[in-house]
Amino acid sequence: MRSEIDRAMVDRAFAEYAAGYDADNIKIRLKIDHTYRVASFTERIAESLSLDRADVDFAWLSGMLHDIGRFEQLKRYGTFIDRLSVDHAELGADILFHDGLIGSFMEKGKDGARETMMERAIRLHNKLTLPEDLDDETRMFSDILRDADKCDIFRVLTEPPFDERNGKIVQTKDPARDSVMQYVRMHRCVPKNTEYTAFEGLIAQCCMAFELVYPESRRILKEQGYLDTLMNLELQGEPAKQMAALKDELKKAFEAMTNGSAKGRKDGTV
Ligand SMILES: [Fe+2]
Repeated sequence: MRSEIDRAMVDRAFAEYAAGYDADNIKIRLKIDHTYRVASFTERIAESLSLDRADVDFAWLSGMLHDIGRFEQLKRYGTFIDRLSVDHAELGADILFHDGLIGSFMEKGKDGARETMMERAIRLHNKLTLPEDLDDETRMFSDILRDADKCDIFRVLTEPPFDERNGKIVQTKDPARDSVMQYVRMHRCVPKNTEYTAFEGLIAQCCMAFELVYPESRRILKEQGYLDTLMNLELQGEPAKQMAALKDELKKAFEAMTNGSAKGRKDGTV
């Protein structure tokens, strides 16, 4: 299939869009770097699935566009916390697909189906779970993007400004509540709809690894080592025990996925 995506055009359009925001602001810089990294991971995961060039490019573009709403979110509300401002995935999709920014990034296809799929992948990239009724292709592109996004979260959390938070976490003696630890036992992501302590936030972030869909994503995670850095913070008392439990559960989950005993996917990718 011929690719409808011109990468040089996308790079230019993204750089132009981001230039409208303050690149000296560390949070803007962070999102620009995050975007390029997520795009490279979407490409790598898509290639690991032996997709054709057009589909690899499509996955890559979803990485380039997934957080476009972050720039306006920060400008309008001064925060990246969706709970306190706006759902950045919905905002980004509205800017792209209602306001028409998508035209700077991809050619309008004959039936609009690719745009619809891109819109859904972007709207769904930050949701706790995917809806049951997604068609296989939309689910696959959504999973690729969600995996790639999760893979880069762990790096973000070990670098400024978030690394300061880790320094505070190691001093905490307050354990995570069972309402958080239950997700560790269930091997699930923790919902973001409540306020968590910094340590609970760390547990919640590490839990994202449970729901990586593709083997390539777990390889990326291992290669990078950022999740290990977070899980190996020198905690004390009960938090240390809870983190040990999380590591243990994650090891079990990854082993089960490698052996193919986790809930199976039609394409045999787990
Ligand atoms: Fe996002």
